[in-house]
Amino acid sequence: MAVAKARKAANKANGKPKPAPSLPKTKENEAQIAVHWKEEEYFHPSPKFIGQANLNDPAMVERFSETNFPECFRAYAELLHWDQYWHTTLDASNPPFWKWFVGGKLNACYNCVDRHLAQYKNKAALIFVPEPEGEAATVITYQELYRRVNEVAAMLRDFAGLKTGDRVTIHMPMIPELPITMLACARLGVVHSVVFGGFSGEACGLRAADSGSRVLIYADGYHRNGKWVDHKASADIAVETAKKEGQSVDKVLIWKRYPGHFRSESPMIMGRDFFVDEVLKDYRNHVVAPVSQDAEAPLFLMYTSGTTGKPKGCQHRTGGYLAYVAGTSKYYQDMHPTDVYWCMADIGWITGHSYIVYGPLALAATSVLYEGVPQFPDAGRPWRIAERLDVNIFHTSPTAIRMLRKAGGDEPNKYNYHFKHMTTVGEPIEPEVWRWYYDVVGKKEAVIVDTWWQTETGGFLCTTKPALDPMKPGSAGPPALGIYPIIWDEEGKEVRAGSGAAGNICIRNPWPGIMQTIWGSPERFVNQYYKKYNKDPQSKDWRDWPYYAADGAVLAADGFYRILGRVDDVINVAGHRLGTKEVESACLSLPEVAEAAVVPAVDDIKGRVPVVYVSLKPGIAPTKQMQDKVTSAIETMIGKIARPKTIHIVPDMPKTRSGKIMRRVLAAISNQMDTGDITTLANPDIVEQIRIQVQGRSRGPVKEGPEDIKMFGDER
Ligand code: WT7
Repeated sequence: MAVAKARKAANKANGKPKPAPSLPKTKENEAQIAVHWKEEEYFHPSPKFIGQANLNDPAMVERFSETNFPECFRAYAELLHWDQYWHTTLDASNPPFWKWFVGGKLNACYNCVDRHLAQYKNKAALIFVPEPEGEAATVITYQELYRRVNEVAAMLRDFAGLKTGDRVTIHMPMIPELPITMLACARLGVVHSVVFGGFSGEACGLRAADSGSRVLIYADGYHRNGKWVDHKASADIAVETAKKEGQSVDKVLIWKRYPGHFRSESPMIMGRDFFVDEVLKDYRNHVVAPVSQDAEAPLFLMYTSGTTGKPKGCQHRTGGYLAYVAGTSKYYQDMHPTDVYWCMADIGWITGHSYIVYGPLALAATSVLYEGVPQFPDAGRPWRIAERLDVNIFHTSPTAIRMLRKAGGDEPNKYNYHFKHMTTVGEPIEPEVWRWYYDVVGKKEAVIVDTWWQTETGGFLCTTKPALDPMKPGSAGPPALGIYPIIWDEEGKEVRAGSGAAGNICIRNPWPGIMQTIWGSPERFVNQYYKKYNKDPQSKDWRDWPYYAADGAVLAADGFYRILGRVDDVINVAGHRLGTKEVESACLSLPEVAEAAVVPAVDDIKGRVPVVYVSLKPGIAPTKQMQDKVTSAIETMIGKIARPKTIHIVPDMPKTRSGKIMRRVLAAISNQMDTGDITTLANPDIVEQIRIQVQGRSRGPVKEGPEDIKMFGDER
């Protein structure tokens, strides 16, 4: 910070602020790392796509210009049915706790189901594709969805005793009963908190306790990668964990993957566990009136990892969220009721909430749900599904694209499907992977949108407008309608377009999809997302409260944003956020472990994978068994998705004189990068020792390495 301090002192001495001098490239301004990549050529949407697109009129872009903020977002809210129209589009009087569509009343389930019956009751709402290829797909029409959601809502209200405002934790795999349960909650105004099926029972229990859920909803099991996963067992662990945290769970409702056949080894606990298919018999054809909710009533919680060990419950509102996902689904996903749309994400993540369930169903689209992994039983599977169902909009992540390309780069050519539109989301995509997606998967016919956003933001922040903007491989693109980003360096100086420098991307204005708060921690919400660039905590002007996204980004001269990755202690593994602190605390739960540090390593398929460094207490031997113990602690406390690539047991950690572990040095070693200046460390000799242990050699050639790893572990 020496440079910044010097500049501030100079400004003060002169009495008035001076324009900042251009900073020398030193360690002090690492957010401004110069980024070197070649400008990619543009690709253009076809006239055929443009002709049918929902967003092909530049007047719409004009409508969302900054001078029309916030009223521009009426265009999104007007896609919904309101029981009572709102009187104030944005109430920004208590920053950063924004209120959207104030005075308005609506029900999210009514908007996604009931209102489509008149026109579309016989149309497919959901098409469920089981992983075993011998099992036929199941179609659920809007009429059938209406019936099933009502029955489940009646059960949740009358059997489970859930009321408007209660929270319920849902730990389920990708089966249609998951969106049905979510919509039933929304019908009652019960706040759902869906935990990704791949998380452990313990991780689920912690989230259930944080949200104060006394009802858990499970499935007995599911198919994944050719194996049957017994899921019910994790319910018992979740209940135990929640209890330790002071939260008692009195009912566990269990869906059977095959109604009538319980397929788990785990016994039912009398008086606590109930089979949904049996209880539902008492609610056949029951109808429950949708509860008319305040626009600001919370719709759901979605837990995500952050800089501290504890996952935070992002709380999303009913009106603003639903308006934002309906609007962005319509204009960026280009969904029409006649399209067959398939998003390969899991509903247990925000992508699934916004762009498998709420967005598509709000628009009366047909949304495909696939139970399993994309490359099962082979890399042709997704393309067989697309061909069979005539999918024309496809949505997935760079990790899945890399995997499918590696497993069968020619496979898409063998199948007769045609996409008009494809999405990539969750991590940066390498231009050559983008080109394979475009040429081979999209057969040079489909447009691609690279959508940058986050669990917190509800929906897209940067993406091209598919019929209006050209595409540029590797860049998310310009801001979404009504979103005004800015890139700042660590000192709050704007990083300009075309400067080639990176900085922290922020959003200057509120938008309807942004989360309301962190469940139970409003201070954490303010500190995490708004404190960094807020100059006046007393200010009541929204312009003083930019949203800090914790992503590094570069803005090209053409106005396209390229997202480099997280600048905090979060690792993006296969498009999913993993908090390094969470993994470290799992390691530290073992009595033998003295210290733990988790850093990202570059991986060809998953983008980044966690590498774990631990040091052991005196007298404990660094054995293979010890490594296995660390792995299993991580899998138990978080889940298999957090399984580290390698575990290094080291004699000591590189530390600053004040005792802080230098994660940046470990990240550099794990990625064959330059460790930089280490002379100021308390124990510089350990670096060489660890390098030899990890790389099998002392100082050798180093790689340039990606920007997020260069920035990893910085104090910011
Ligand atoms: C983080 C958010 C967005 C929903 C799924 C992930 C990274 C997201 C992109 C993109 C480059 C991206 C960011 C972000 N990210 N989309 N198109 N290009 N990076 O949601 O789990 O909350 O993760 O994913 O680093 O902060 P999430």
